[in-house]
Amino acid sequence: MKVSPSLLSADFSNLAKDIEMINRSEADYLHLDVMDGVFVPNISFGFPVIDSVAKICKKPLDVHLMIVEPQKWVDRLKECGAEIMNVHIEACLHLDRTVNAIHEAGMKAGVTLNPATPVSLLVDIINQLDLVLLMSVNPGFGGQAFIHNTLKKVAELKALRDSSESKAMIEVDGGVNEETGRLLAEAGADILVAGNYVFKSQNPKERINILKAL
Ligand code: DX5
Ligand code: ZN
Repeated sequence: MKVSPSLLSADFSNLAKDIEMINRSEADYLHLDVMDGVFVPNISFGFPVIDSVAKICKKPLDVHLMIVEPQKWVDRLKECGAEIMNVHIEACLHLDRTVNAIHEAGMKAGVTLNPATPVSLLVDIINQLDLVLLMSVNPGFGGQAFIHNTLKKVAELKALRDSSESKAMIEVDGGVNEETGRLLAEAGADILVAGNYVFKSQNPKERINILKAL
């Protein structure tokens, strides 16, 4: 299993310490949650923070944009050095154009689905995607309870991917811990995002290893 710890649950008064921990850990990515207070009912951080994180983080950046009109920020996010740009399907009027722009900028394109958004909406874009991010909570906050319907969606997405030419990785975000992580692994997830489970622990590197082993 690949693991992408979410910085949203880190200590914002000492991000360098938590990023150094991530650098020394077995984490595969660092997940960065950008919120605009419009698409989601919360505001997190933006480009100045991502620039600073990128300077010291040795893991590839997996950026999750919970913002309206994400297509406006493709070039700016590329400048930050992001590896993956995740845009919400609910925020994109012209998803094909946005995915093409992300690829033209040289990033991997991820499309994110809210809990109530069906996997079937991806049928005509799945072949162009590097990643699909399924939300297993309503986006906006860390520390929420896992929505179990996500397990069914992971299985549906895996079937859609495997019946097409797609190589899209399946990432899941929200309420991930050892128990829900195991269920997600069985359902076919490739990457687990984890905020509270990793950063609110006394031993975050061990928590990352537990998820890695699933
Ligand atoms: C929620 C964010 C998540 C969040 C997950 O909107 O997209 O990445 O940090 O936090 P946990 O793992 O605590 O549910
Ligand atoms: Zn996220």
